Amino acid sequence: MKKILVTGGLGYIGSHTVVELQNEGFEVVIIDNLSNTTIEVLDRITSITGIKPEFEQIDLKNKKDVQQFFKNYSIDGVIHFAASKAVGESVEEPLMYYENNIATLTYLLQEMNANNVRNFIFSSSCTVYGQADKLPITEDAPTKPAESPYGATKKMGEIIIEDTSKVTGLRAIALRYFNPIGAHKSAKIGELPIGVPQNLIPYVVQTAAGIRECLSVFGDDYNTPDGTAIRDYIHVVDLAKAHIAALNRLLENKNKANCEFFNIGTGKGSSVLEVVNAFEKATGKNVNYKIVDRRAGDITAAYANTSLANKELGWKAELDLEEALRSSWKWQESL
Ligand code: UFG
Repeated sequence: MKKILVTGGLGYIGSHTVVELQNEGFEVVIIDNLSNTTIEVLDRITSITGIKPEFEQIDLKNKKDVQQFFKNYSIDGVIHFAASKAVGESVEEPLMYYENNIATLTYLLQEMNANNVRNFIFSSSCTVYGQADKLPITEDAPTKPAESPYGATKKMGEIIIEDTSKVTGLRAIALRYFNPIGAHKSAKIGELPIGVPQNLIPYVVQTAAGIRECLSVFGDDYNTPDGTAIRDYIHVVDLAKAHIAALNRLLENKNKANCEFFNIGTGKGSSVLEVVNAFEKATGKNVNYKIVDRRAGDITAAYANTSLANKELGWKAELDLEEALRSSWKWQESL
């Protein structure tokens, strides 16, 4: 049985990926510092799969703890989710973001190298493309200057990993996620709401639940059919499965370069108003909304060309927007 380290494995995407790894017969050890989740998620994963993953409460900023971890465990591959992810917060606290997302990445890669752990999957983001010149976006689209320190950490992370893979024997895959949404069908794990949601779907769901009064739609003067901005919303369970496909590619030596990049999206763009309508249709719930000014830093449209992931990873998104929105609602109700 292959043993996989999942950093940030109690977070939103991490917990869904742990479930899929266990479903596929991998042994999982989780590192999480619980900064943006709770220990209860460990029990919830266990109740879904029937297997309790090993867990170490470690903050990757503590280099000594990372060193000790690799002495204690024999690891076949690492899926690295642990990072801070709030765009606005990153503008206020850039150094925190560079320490949390970049310093920790270097420690992890150093210890992997010191212990001959070679297989690495990185959580990257479509944010590296900025507003792409061509849609749908292919992996060879040029990256653009980051709009925020958060975005910069994803771009720098890719560079750090690619440079390392040229000299250490590291084999890496960076998955560039589009917009992850939804929750596990059991409604036992999902995105934990902390404070006022910054992302669209949590805000929609909380508005439908009466926790928020009204959704602000940020701008209806974009150059899109209905004037609202377009994104590629991907079900978190599909996204989790992309990690298994990427991991298997490395474990089976099918990778074609030491560092590879794949878009992980559905290939379909949806506008903010289309999302609101799809949510109402999927759940029968009403969402109050008003149009307000654009949000600083937002782009007009981003959606993925997923041909490379289809062909090379043998992976394709299977769940559609309405199904994802229904699962988000079910998760909200369970809360
Ligand atoms: N939106 C609203 N109202 C809200 C929240 C969002 O209208 O209350 C709109 C946004 O303006 C945007 C769309 O809904 O047009 C999606 O917004 P999200 O905040 O959900 O997602 P983003 O596309 O802005 O952010 C995502 C990831 C980030 C990543 C960013 C850049 O969440 O991690 O893409 O590509 F950095």
